[in-house]
Amino acid sequence: MDFQFVSWFHLYSVLLFLNTLVFECSSHLDDWYESCGATFSCGAITGVGYPFRGNGDPEYCGYPSFLLKCDQDNMTTIRLMNVTYRVLNIDQTTQVMKIAREDVMDVTCPQELVNTTFNYAVYDFTSAYMNITFLYGCPVSVKLQSPSSVSCGSKENDSVDVVSGAHGPGNCKYSVVVPVLKAGAEGSVSLTHLDQLLQEGFEVRWKMDGKACSDCTSTGGRCGYSFSTNQTTCFCPGQPYLSDSCSAANRASPGPESIHHLSFRDLSYL
Ligand SMILES: *[C@@H]1O[C@H](CO)[C@@H](O)[C@H](O)[C@H]1NC(C)=O
Ligand SMILES: *[C@@H]1O[C@H](CO)[C@@H](O)[C@H](O)[C@H]1NC(C)=O
Ligand SMILES: *[C@@H]1O[C@H](CO)[C@@H](O)[C@H](O)[C@H]1NC(C)=O
Ligand SMILES: *[C@@H]1O[C@H](CO)[C@@H](O)[C@H](O)[C@H]1NC(C)=O
Ligand SMILES: *[C@@H]1O[C@H](CO)[C@@H](O)[C@H](O)[C@H]1NC(C)=O
Ligand SMILES: *[C@@H]1O[C@H](CO)[C@@H](O)[C@H](O)[C@H]1NC(C)=O
Repeated sequence: MDFQFVSWFHLYSVLLFLNTLVFECSSHLDDWYESCGATFSCGAITGVGYPFRGNGDPEYCGYPSFLLKCDQDNMTTIRLMNVTYRVLNIDQTTQVMKIAREDVMDVTCPQELVNTTFNYAVYDFTSAYMNITFLYGCPVSVKLQSPSSVSCGSKENDSVDVVSGAHGPGNCKYSVVVPVLKAGAEGSVSLTHLDQLLQEGFEVRWKMDGKACSDCTSTGGRCGYSFSTNQTTCFCPGQPYLSDSCSAANRASPGPESIHHLSFRDLSYL
């Protein structure tokens, strides 16, 4: 009798615990749909949605590293591979973003001695670009041969050599490769307009298939990112699971292939 009482008590506790757990999960899941409803707007950039997210949005509302920030001058910035870029334009239809290195906006030469590189699994250049290389700390012998040196900022002897193409530092201390739009450069580096050229930026295309997200939004869902599958997922209003689209989720007997239940990795992001 005593033993039975203890078992029932335990069973009751476990059920109570499970009930609480399920309740907590589903209330958080409503939040998934609700909390990914915002679009990003800042200055000239307006209404940008997935794969981007704004600074205040939860991590699961956007693709990793597609984090947009709005600075005090209403300029949009994004940080990719240790370089901060000013975002000049985002075209979600063609998946092309126009960006310029933030560190060349006020002074012509890059201040962060980091090459302009991308995660090429996610981003690619569009065809209309060319590389230019800034060479820092070159010996005088190189300077004499070099046709082009630019003044960086205010200091008189703070000059850097610029060549077209992507190059290593050679005899100089550092090299920093920066892409520019080819149309603007017309095949050669025009030093008189170098600052303007850099500030006009260049284009990158993000490669992820936009179909997953359009399938989601067209069925009333909101796109998000699943950290368990590393892919775009769909948050549907009032649905306690991730899905590929909300019409699939609303089917009377949802096929297991269209729905992946929550993993602990997902839950840890709530
Ligand atoms: C930034 O944009 C907001 C909203 O459009 C505006 O109220 C604010 O004055 C702008 N700030 C600057 C520095 O332009
Ligand atoms: C960014 O910089 C940090 C520290 O300087 C370094 O550890 C990291 O490897 C860099 N990341 C990339 C993608 O270059
Ligand atoms: C630009 O430089 C990168 C290496 O930094 C290279 O992979 C790429 O092919 C270059 N692009 C052009 C158009 O020369
Ligand atoms: C910069 O130039 C000034 C004179 O124009 C010179 O005295 C100084 O040593 C130079 N600094 C460097 C780091 O070359
Ligand atoms: C930039 O890339 C070149 C190779 O294209 C490399 O030699 C150079 O060291 C890199 N610069 C920096 C600052 O990493
Ligand atoms: C997702 O990405 C993380 C980190 O990049 C990796 O450790 C994990 O194995 C990936 N998961 C899948 C299912 O690809």
